[in-house]
Amino acid sequence: MSDAAAAEGERLQKVLARIGIGSRRVCEEMIAQGRVTVNGEVADLGRRVDVESDRVELDGVPIGVRPGLVHYLLNKPAGVVTTADDPQGRPTVLGLVPAEPRVFPVGRLDMDTEGLLLLTNDGELTHRLTHPSFGIEKEYVAQIQGSPTRAALRRLREGIELEDGLTAPAEAALLAPGVLRLTIHEGRNRQVRRMCEAIGHPVTRLVRSRIGPLVDRRLKPGQWRPLTGDEVRALERAVAGERATPDGGRRPRP
Ligand code: URA
Repeated sequence: MSDAAAAEGERLQKVLARIGIGSRRVCEEMIAQGRVTVNGEVADLGRRVDVESDRVELDGVPIGVRPGLVHYLLNKPAGVVTTADDPQGRPTVLGLVPAEPRVFPVGRLDMDTEGLLLLTNDGELTHRLTHPSFGIEKEYVAQIQGSPTRAALRRLREGIELEDGLTAPAEAALLAPGVLRLTIHEGRNRQVRRMCEAIGHPVTRLVRSRIGPLVDRRLKPGQWRPLTGDEVRALERAVAGERATPDGGRRPRP
């Protein structure tokens, strides 16, 4: 932004306070401590920003400052499709959240899958959350047929050859006979169902119980709520701090 435009922008501490980082006073301290950058440069206390175009980071984590950004956490019921528009006229997840402002689902759950789904109009965050290189963790609880042996669980953990290639290492734990918790950080089509099928234990019910730092055991199927500012920041941190390596391991981003 030019100097003239910068002089007209909104004060940085006010912007940070508006999106819930802390009180104005706390935000001023963060700026004074050099923790906030604007377009890559450490911001001074009097700094004004153009919220539409400036890139603001706190402790190296990009934070969304555009006004009007909304983030909803939905507990998707079975029988609802994760598309904006369904040619077959089936109920969609967009019918369960406010129509305005227009939001989009981040990734997708199969029609029969239940559980947590994020919807937002924050395109930048969506891009990061869905990009395979950021590999955010997703946790599922699956009811399966039969009970897998230790060897079968090890196959899930070490990677399974599916028709679209080897899956990255996953966390797998048997919570009860026939109830499996699987944590993956890829987002392939019907991945959990295909992994379970591959070890001979087809899924009979699938629920997503966590998306990175987001959990909510009180949200009922069909209910949604806005994310808190802390949850948005936790998500932003989750996709800023780590990147999955091609072998599924983690390394800090440069
Ligand atoms: N894996 C699946 O098989 N289905 C989903 O909906 C999500 C992950």
